[in-house]
Amino acid sequence: MPAVTAEPAARAATARTPNNLQPYWMPFTANRQFKAQPRLLVGAKGLHYTSADGRAVLDGTAGLWCCNAGHAHPKIVAAIQAQAAEMDYAPAFQMGHPKAFELAARVAALAPGDLDHVFFTNSGSEAVDTALKIAIAYQRLRGEGTRTRLIGRERGYHGVGFGGMSVGGIATNRKFFGPLLSGVDHLPHTYDRAKQGFSRGQPEWGAHLADELERIIALHDASTIAAVIVEPVACSTGVLVPPKGYLERLREICTKHGILLIFDEVITGFGRLGTNFAVDYFGVMPDLVTTAKGLTSGAVPMGAVIARKGIYDTFMTGPDYAIELFHGYTYSGHPLACAAGLAALEVYAEEGLFEKVRTLAPYWEERVHGLKGVPHVIDIRNLGLIAAIELEPIPGQPAKRAFDAFLAAYEKGLLIRTTGDIIALSPPLTIGKREIDEIFGKLAEVLKAAG
Ligand SMILES: Cc1ncc(COP(=O)(O)O)c(C=O)c1O
Repeated sequence: MPAVTAEPAARAATARTPNNLQPYWMPFTANRQFKAQPRLLVGAKGLHYTSADGRAVLDGTAGLWCCNAGHAHPKIVAAIQAQAAEMDYAPAFQMGHPKAFELAARVAALAPGDLDHVFFTNSGSEAVDTALKIAIAYQRLRGEGTRTRLIGRERGYHGVGFGGMSVGGIATNRKFFGPLLSGVDHLPHTYDRAKQGFSRGQPEWGAHLADELERIIALHDASTIAAVIVEPVACSTGVLVPPKGYLERLREICTKHGILLIFDEVITGFGRLGTNFAVDYFGVMPDLVTTAKGLTSGAVPMGAVIARKGIYDTFMTGPDYAIELFHGYTYSGHPLACAAGLAALEVYAEEGLFEKVRTLAPYWEERVHGLKGVPHVIDIRNLGLIAAIELEPIPGQPAKRAFDAFLAAYEKGLLIRTTGDIIALSPPLTIGKREIDEIFGKLAEVLKAAG
């Protein structure tokens, strides 16, 4: 490594300079483009951000699919403030604090059936790695120690830990990072534009793709497979809605072969589809659910794994003074996150936000599909308060057309998200018809102007 040359005084001066953008290595960002043309947000309230140059920006993405109650909700703000003053932190191991138990009970009550034990993490990535570890350890504890293999899906996104990356199926997120976890296989993704293009809600075609799991099981043998993990709706890859009957079929095959089914509900949990969880929307019961984001409405980082009773109970053996699961994070169930989570769940219930999504979803669907026929739009997909608009890539410049649209929309005061050449939308659940009109009106202008 080159020697550090800056004098201490110079280094201190640099540290105080508020507009030095260089030291921050930004995540999942084109760092050089950003630092040449920064987009800094300095405030947020309700459905809008305020940019550093003083403009209101309509949040079409709930931050990063997370601020379901809108920004700076007074109830959530007050809860975090009060908790910070009352108790900043309590050790997570061999100690507890009341709000962690209260939040776990609330989350368990929201989850259906016997999904009734909650393990807290600080992010979706940690929730996924936790769920994968629980699945493998569970199989061992029930005497099936050869079941260590994990099955993910092409185009799946399960965060950026080595576990999540390994079961994930987005090539750019995997290819730089070596061989990843061994003993992982992938289902095919569920998307075929020719068969499903411009479907409204769940596509009719594609349930049979779940049968690929039987092929994978025949190859490896069920006795080597611990769990299958999928997002009920694959959001980060650009919103792939599960074909009708697909998730039901996955469930049947997993049950038949003693394989755990994990639903990664980091995005779909807490109202995005108009139900508590996607589990409720689709009526398909997994064994473990991972979640994060909407759990605290994005106000404090937090994730969670929700486990069925039988899984938790399997761990509760041995002497009662012994630790049952050698896993956890310093900040599991952090008091500030728990306070934010309790307040967020109250807001969702008091304001009827999940029901509101169910009422708004048909309008949302109508408006997004109204973009059919706009230049370069090659597919549109939607479910609940989620939508994707797929654009024809510029030849030789993949992802540029959508990125240009993102920049142009931001200039017009609208925040959207892009992945490859797909625009993804997931506004706060507090949005109304007027703002929905604004989103699609501005998007149509942007796409038409792009020519
Ligand atoms: C389905 C899914 N799983 C996991 C993650 C990772 O969550 P985090 O970024 O909080 O680690 C995400 C993030 O978007 C996600 O959508």
